[in-house]
Amino acid sequence: MTAPDTPTPAQPPYFQRHIFFCLNERKAPEACCAAQGAQQAFEHCKKQVKAAGLAGPGKVRVNKSGCLDRCSGAPVAVVYPEGTWYTYVDQQDIDEIVESHLKHGQVVERLLLPPDVGR
Ligand code: FES
Repeated sequence: MTAPDTPTPAQPPYFQRHIFFCLNERKAPEACCAAQGAQQAFEHCKKQVKAAGLAGPGKVRVNKSGCLDRCSGAPVAVVYPEGTWYTYVDQQDIDEIVESHLKHGQVVERLLLPPDVGR
């Protein structure tokens, strides 16, 4: 049974997937993505998506985001339409998300953000 709040797409999606990187900054001691290398990860992801030929309509869009309200897991990123939440440490983690999830649709289990992580 389909969830009652799931809309039926009127047309094919303009992008197959979006990945949103939170780049938000908070005053210490609050956790935030900006203090954990989010800007560099975002830029690296954009570069890797482009290099892999995944950028553009019908493919993948890499977006900046404000706070995604899961700050204690910082840095975080989320991939839609799957709604898959990731936390990452370095550029190798971003490379794996690009290659596995954004290119092949395979979730990177080891980088999943635990479901109970909030702000
Ligand atoms: S600061 Fe990144 S999720 Fe809140």
